[in-house]
Amino acid sequence: MTGGRELVMVSNRLPVDRVVASDGSTSWRTSPGGLVTAVAPIVEQLGCLWVGWVGAADEQLEPFEIGSMRLAPVELSEDDIELYYEGFSNGTLWPLYHDVIARPDFHRVWWDRYRRVNQRFAERVAEQAARGAIVWVHDYQLQLVPAMLRELRPDLTIAFFLHIPFPPSRLFAQLPWRKSVVEGLLGADVIGFQQVTDAVAFRMTAERFTRVPALGNTIVVPGTADHPSRTVLAQEFPISIDAAAFAEVAARPEIQQRAREIRAELGNPKTVMLGVDRLDYTKGIRHRLKAFDELLGDGEIDPADIVFVQVASPSRERVDAYRQLRDEVELTVGRINGEHGSIGHAPLVYLHRGHTRDEMVALYLAADVLLVTPLRDGMNLVAKEYVACRADEQGVLVLSEFAGAADELRDALLVNPHDIEGLKAAIVRAAHMPREEQRRRMRSLRRTVYDNDVAHWATGYLGAVRAAAESQRPSQTGHRTEPIQVSTAFVPRSIDDRVRRLAALPQLIVASDFDGTLAPIVPRPQDARILPRARQALEVLRSAPDTYVAVLTGRSLEGLAETGLQSEGWIVSGSHGSELTGLDVGAVAGAGEAPPLGSPLTDEEHERLQRIARRFERVLGGEPGVRLERKPFGIAVHTRQVADSEQADELMAAAVELGLAAEMHVREGKQVREFSVRDSNKGSVLRSIRAALPNAPVLFLGDDVTDEDVFTSLGHDDLGIKVGDGATAAVERVPDPETATAVLALLAELRTGIIIGSE
Ligand code: ADP
Ligand code: G6P
Repeated sequence: MTGGRELVMVSNRLPVDRVVASDGSTSWRTSPGGLVTAVAPIVEQLGCLWVGWVGAADEQLEPFEIGSMRLAPVELSEDDIELYYEGFSNGTLWPLYHDVIARPDFHRVWWDRYRRVNQRFAERVAEQAARGAIVWVHDYQLQLVPAMLRELRPDLTIAFFLHIPFPPSRLFAQLPWRKSVVEGLLGADVIGFQQVTDAVAFRMTAERFTRVPALGNTIVVPGTADHPSRTVLAQEFPISIDAAAFAEVAARPEIQQRAREIRAELGNPKTVMLGVDRLDYTKGIRHRLKAFDELLGDGEIDPADIVFVQVASPSRERVDAYRQLRDEVELTVGRINGEHGSIGHAPLVYLHRGHTRDEMVALYLAADVLLVTPLRDGMNLVAKEYVACRADEQGVLVLSEFAGAADELRDALLVNPHDIEGLKAAIVRAAHMPREEQRRRMRSLRRTVYDNDVAHWATGYLGAVRAAAESQRPSQTGHRTEPIQVSTAFVPRSIDDRVRRLAALPQLIVASDFDGTLAPIVPRPQDARILPRARQALEVLRSAPDTYVAVLTGRSLEGLAETGLQSEGWIVSGSHGSELTGLDVGAVAGAGEAPPLGSPLTDEEHERLQRIARRFERVLGGEPGVRLERKPFGIAVHTRQVADSEQADELMAAAVELGLAAEMHVREGKQVREFSVRDSNKGSVLRSIRAALPNAPVLFLGDDVTDEDVFTSLGHDDLGIKVGDGATAAVERVPDPETATAVLALLAELRTGIIIGSE
């Protein structure tokens, strides 16, 4: 997977911690946290050199081996631990990157030590890594290492992965050393994030504080006298677990026996609820206990029926916010049991220690409900572990919307942990969920976790890293040469001629569909990304005089933004022409008597939309596989996931009937119908856009049936290009988004003289 190159891991902690007992004897145990859970199984297979701290102060140890890994310890003194680890890493960055749930402290001595310790890590790697190795740096404690390492060893390919969220730019802006942190990260060839929002936030932050432009997922770091320019891929790669390994433990008879014992030890209550977290203020443990306490107090749950087991592994115990949390949690646990327990029965069991993997899995099997309610979490692997273990398709996962895992685990009971009433309702619902519903949800969750396990993740992430490594062309100075080459060879002859004519016109409108045209189609819509070269071409065109760039998409503007598309200065229409930004079309009315284009919903429309939403929810909401997607001006009904195709057709027919009865406009797609209160389409919005701009010919590219409304509206001087197969009114055709991009690049180059780089 690493293309035969040596792999070097770098993280604050090694995958094992050295534990010194009171009698002075030492032993090793697995390090805490999700980083090791996710990453260790991959590198155990691949073999690697791992550089990190052993978890205890002032330990000077020679490199040693465990299995296929060679571990090279980095020493941390008591002062380093206080200033770099507890201070800057966990007193500044951790709270800042987790939505400032706790107040971050900014101290110059902490920062100073953070830099020095990062330098020490970089030097240790530089000493140890083989020539041309792939070095993979982990997490917020080591954000300066990529640039420091590049300086020391330009021959290495450097990857970075942030296991925690990246904060929105307005929060990151608080950090006095923000520019240095971004520059540190930009030393990497690939920067991986947990979620789209993290990657988008980083790219915006990088643009804001270091003025490096981002083209799609790619950031271009300009060259200097000593270093040529380079590109950095900054993209989301949601991390996962070795699902099969958990399943294997869960299948062992002695583990299942242990699960039964755990239930028996708890008094065989009707419901066992479980929480498993590091004792961290980001995990929402206080909120969870409050909800549980109130439910007992209100009499909504009977302490005789339910036991809540909270496993909290000790973490960062000398940091103030953690110490306070521990005191508070322990007080609350005592109070709840004091008020609601009885002799021989405590409704709340609190275990403040680490457990073996086997014991964790037995707990997962024993639990009817798992509560994962962080206020903010990069991913949360506990949620995925629970699902991976439940081969019996039973058990309910209650999951915070603010955990990265919520992006994937849509069939969990999703909650906002700040909403205590909502959390209470979810707990009650989970405790009473019928077995059949549990099965349906768990089945779908398991599919997601197995389809997206850590091997899948490693293929994507390490695949990107390997691609970066392959593109390295070391020159004599040891620096790679700039890979950008121009190629418009793709563009078919007949289109080439037409594009040359358009490029020479005084005014021009360049318009395009998004999915399938600028961005290749991917299985999950939120994963779609504009091709970097297409984005660059459109950006160059937008900056050219008398040239207007418009994107016309069926997505809502919000859905488009989720792809990370940066379209400042572009005209963008969403929801098939119902939404418009980037152009004031004034009082230009929509079709017929409709309200003006781009105007918000009228009261009447809002009311109508609410009515049909309620009706769809009632009639179709409980149907397995049907997805109702709320759009700004309507609702889309998706039946792609309905297992039986005949049933899918019937359900869709029912939806159409309901929609027509409510006077909605229906738009047809592949296994989706959109019901909209406004009668707009891409053709009508393009007409309005043209009317608001100086008279100019249009180049339009599109791949979908809905793009035909544009193609049929084009005149003699315009050029319509269909992307892909299928009947069309367009005069030209290209096979795929890559060729569509080549057309845009050619146009941009001819119109401006600026060369558009290849991807
Ligand atoms: P974080 O990385 O913030 O700690 P995750 O949920 O992503 O959170 O990962 C936590 C990992 O630590 C999981 O693999 C979980 O099984 C493990 N873990 C949590 N608590 C304990 C515990 N008390 N004993 C052993 N392992 C634990
Ligand atoms: C989270 C972080 C890791 C960290 C782990 C344990 O998973 O993302 O980087 O190692 O928590 O925290 P600790 O401070 O004990 O290393």
